[in-house]
Amino acid sequence: MTSEILVEQGTPERLPVDVVIMAAGKGTRMKSLLPKVLHPLAGRPLLHHVLSTARALQARQAVVITGHGAIEVEAACAMDTRATGSFRINFVRQEPQLGTGHAVQQAVPVLADDGVVVVLSGDVPLTRPATLHHLIAACAGDKLALLTLEMADPAGYGRIVRRGAMADGEVLAIVEHKDASVAQRAITEIYSGIMAVPAAQLKRWLARLDNQNVQGEFYLTDIVKFAVADGVPVVAHKIDDAVQVAGVNSPVQLAALERAYQLQQAHRLMEDGVRLADPARIDVRGELFCAHDVSIDVNCVFEGQVNLGQGVAIGANCVVANAVIEAGAVIHPFTHIDGEAMGVTVGPGARVGPFARLRPGARLGEDVHIGNFVEIKNSTLAAGAKANHLAYLGDATVGERVNFGAGSITANYDGANKHRTDIEADVHVGSNCVLVAPVTLGAGGTVGGGSTITKNTPAGALSVARGKQVSIANWARPQKKPKA
Ligand code: UD1
Ligand code: CA
Repeated sequence: MTSEILVEQGTPERLPVDVVIMAAGKGTRMKSLLPKVLHPLAGRPLLHHVLSTARALQARQAVVITGHGAIEVEAACAMDTRATGSFRINFVRQEPQLGTGHAVQQAVPVLADDGVVVVLSGDVPLTRPATLHHLIAACAGDKLALLTLEMADPAGYGRIVRRGAMADGEVLAIVEHKDASVAQRAITEIYSGIMAVPAAQLKRWLARLDNQNVQGEFYLTDIVKFAVADGVPVVAHKIDDAVQVAGVNSPVQLAALERAYQLQQAHRLMEDGVRLADPARIDVRGELFCAHDVSIDVNCVFEGQVNLGQGVAIGANCVVANAVIEAGAVIHPFTHIDGEAMGVTVGPGARVGPFARLRPGARLGEDVHIGNFVEIKNSTLAAGAKANHLAYLGDATVGERVNFGAGSITANYDGANKHRTDIEADVHVGSNCVLVAPVTLGAGGTVGGGSTITKNTPAGALSVARGKQVSIANWARPQKKPKA
């Protein structure tokens, strides 16, 4: 596969792209047993975001340099199909970790000479593919292209040293903060950690690296001075969006990037017409698709893939995962919907909540009403069915217009196996009933409150299964014995 890019003349040219992702570092400041690049941002490991970016570039492969937590990191990549898609991921171990140059040296055996290598970091999740397309275009297969940024406080970063210290002077070197002179430390243009470089040149330059510097590391950034010495042009593609190159080194930085990302998504939703009560109080950890006139109140979390139909309203404090909510449905506050792998569907005009729980395989038809403290699992409710208070429906098929009373449940599990309950159309189940599955309630029937139903009920009948009420007249309550 190749990446189509525009070179300076404006003619489309296909340059094969290989992405190298450095992910061997320890991430000490996370103070976590989980490898840094597996910490989630928007519900997905940082590294998966970077792999998705590589895929968006139509790179022919991603080479992931692993070290700390290598086994876990490699396993996590193999698991994420969204991140892996169809392109190849090559894992290369870097042990011990002797610097970014040493990291990329490990990739050399799996890099062909004909491509452009884009170097990314596994802990920099929010780089836009368009930015990298520009960088690749700037490289054009024969230059060294660096992604740079102006920073008010450049401490800690590699500085872009230009001829004559001029803002538009030719790039001569990157000097790491710890190796920089006082004058160099005053430079505010920094290297982002991202470059695009012709593979053949990269290999030659990597072979020349040494670790004669303050940190005793092999710096990838030293290849800039080799390019200059070899007469290969070095171009800087400067951007002004710091979020795109921000790395995660600590929980504080992770949270800051999460907020930045969520705010971006909130704005994207609003640009598509979604009404958000507060763009700072929505979290989308996956993909949220909204038709026209959707409104979402504060503090809602969306996970996996969620589709909201036209005019859907989501109340405050709802968590919705892997669900399809059809046009005009209203989800009242504090509702938890989690479809997991089976999914949940809420039919048009349905009303759910407040305080409802829809679990995998809940399929609600048109105008179904589910009220407070009602749990639905692996059950289909036909149009107009209602369960408004304190109920459980599991492994059930519920017909049209059924009314399922407060406190009633399906006893679907006998301790070993799950059984189905079939409630036919227009059945009215009273309050506090137990329907012991497998059982079928015939159409139009009524079940008296407090019944424990263990046998099928006939259509149209009133079925009652409970102790008879007895009243004992003039009954005297027991009296306390007088103290001796
Ligand atoms: C690097 C750049 C610096 C730039 C900064 C941007 C070098 C020498 N310096 O700095 O110019 O301004 O990024 O953030 O490249 N890693 C490995 N193996 C190693 C060392 C690092 O895989 O042996 C990985 C890390 O896990 C991380 C990435 O490489 O994902 C960058 O390493 P880091 O230590 O953060 O870079 P700096 O030295 O701070
Ligand atoms: Ca370092």
